[in-house]
Amino acid sequence: MKWWRDAVIYQVYPRSFADSDGDGIGDLPGIISRLGHLAALGVDAVWLSPFYPSPQADAGYDVADYRDVDPIFGRLADADKLIASAHSLGLRVIVDLVPNHTSAQHPWFQAALAAAPGSRERDRYVFRDGRADGSPPNSWQSVFGGDAWSQLPDGQWYLHLFDAGQPDLNWDNPEVRAEFEDILRFWLDRGVDGFRVDVAHGLVKQADLADWHLPMVPLTSEGTEGGPRPPMWDQDGVHEIYRRWRKILDGYEGERILVAEAWVQPAERLAAYVRPDEMHQAFNFEYLEASWTAAAQRSVISRSLAASAAVGAPTTWVLSNHDVIRHASRLGLPVGTPRPNGIGAGDKQPDAGLGLRRARAATLLMLALPGSAYLYQGEELGLPEHTTLPDSSRQDPTWFRTHGASVGRDGCRVPVPWEADAPSYGFGPSDRSWLPQPAVFGELALDRQVGVPGSTYSLYVSALRLRRELGLGAGELAWVGGPDDVVAFSNGDLLVLTNFGSAAAELPEGAEVLLSSEPVNGRSVPTDVTVWARLS
Ligand code: GLC
Repeated sequence: MKWWRDAVIYQVYPRSFADSDGDGIGDLPGIISRLGHLAALGVDAVWLSPFYPSPQADAGYDVADYRDVDPIFGRLADADKLIASAHSLGLRVIVDLVPNHTSAQHPWFQAALAAAPGSRERDRYVFRDGRADGSPPNSWQSVFGGDAWSQLPDGQWYLHLFDAGQPDLNWDNPEVRAEFEDILRFWLDRGVDGFRVDVAHGLVKQADLADWHLPMVPLTSEGTEGGPRPPMWDQDGVHEIYRRWRKILDGYEGERILVAEAWVQPAERLAAYVRPDEMHQAFNFEYLEASWTAAAQRSVISRSLAASAAVGAPTTWVLSNHDVIRHASRLGLPVGTPRPNGIGAGDKQPDAGLGLRRARAATLLMLALPGSAYLYQGEELGLPEHTTLPDSSRQDPTWFRTHGASVGRDGCRVPVPWEADAPSYGFGPSDRSWLPQPAVFGELALDRQVGVPGSTYSLYVSALRLRRELGLGAGELAWVGGPDDVVAFSNGDLLVLTNFGSAAAELPEGAEVLLSSEPVNGRSVPTDVTVWARLS
């Protein structure tokens, strides 16, 4: 059974999901204690962001040991228990694999530092001599700001597309390839159902490490359509790696999957990652970035469906994750605002009411689309971004490396509120929380929403149940004509309509409303509302 083709996959960010020991940082036992919530919500799988031993220079995306659990999150036995508990609830488990770089504390990098230029140890990473004038080997800048190179006392430089604590591996080195194949097997043998592959479009660099003109390298290969591709992203050589990995996964029972985090555009180039002998899915960031207009939504949905159909892969949909402003806040910014990297107290604040209304409409639209959908923890509560975090609490390396020019991603990583009247809103047994929670998290806590008609939580539960009952994920979309500012399509017997216009839209006569993102009166669908209706 190809469960992944229409699966709803819920992202858990371990630091911020549930804290079992009161140290203010979430952990694996905390996640285990809350798995029942995911089963009740009605998702199919959980994806866990990294929980491996790490100095936490980038919240765990700097891995020092790929085969263990960081003591702040628990022990390896807790990972085993988590996998078993999830399976017993019918939930699959996907773990995060970070192959583009290790932590600077990884034994390999420590050995490289101790070894001489030109040594076998240094060849596992990207070490180069600087230019004659003493500047770094090329002009590349880090995704997090500043130079993408750091210099050692012996004069050589090493490449880090992200933080200086995340040295890039050299994927031309067979030892690197063999190591990651072994890491895959390690977790497959422990029973995981798949891997979300971090920065999947970055492993292979253009051999000449040619200069690149952008001041700060965005994660995405966008903007280069028709022009040269950035020499650090989406090089053709990455595909061979995923073909090898696919063979390994196919050797295991139970349809284990690979999911690419590849900020690659256009959709046709992204589709290359999910050809039949490569990965199973790739995140659809073009969808996440599409503006809140009927034209933009229709166009991204059509393009995404066509590109994945051309290679026989399911399309995926996503609105929020741990790297972007939560959609309940993003959609409260003026339409057409380019997605900022975080919002700070000094920035123009989103309209919270409008953002939540549109977020609910966006989610209901997304969950009716054929393919697989990704949810990010807390979106089922309608959580907003924390847009006024005190600068003193910020931890994202972007904040430090840009000297505050970019506030970064902490605002979407704030610990989840479970109980309105408990310390840390029930995140843990103490009042500690590694990032402060805004007061509105009390009103939005899970216990204020369960069983409450019209709550965002109830909307998600109903939508996920209907999606399953009606087989929407495995269905087919057919556009339905109508006014320009209305998106309407059918999926099986269901009519889905989102009104982006300022005037009310009309459902056809005889339409029976099954679910709507806000209350509707008769057949009239107000602005920024999605309706699921059955045609009689
Ligand atoms: C991915 C992760 C992000 C991390 C980066 C470097 O984009 O999602 O959180 O900072 O890779 O590993």
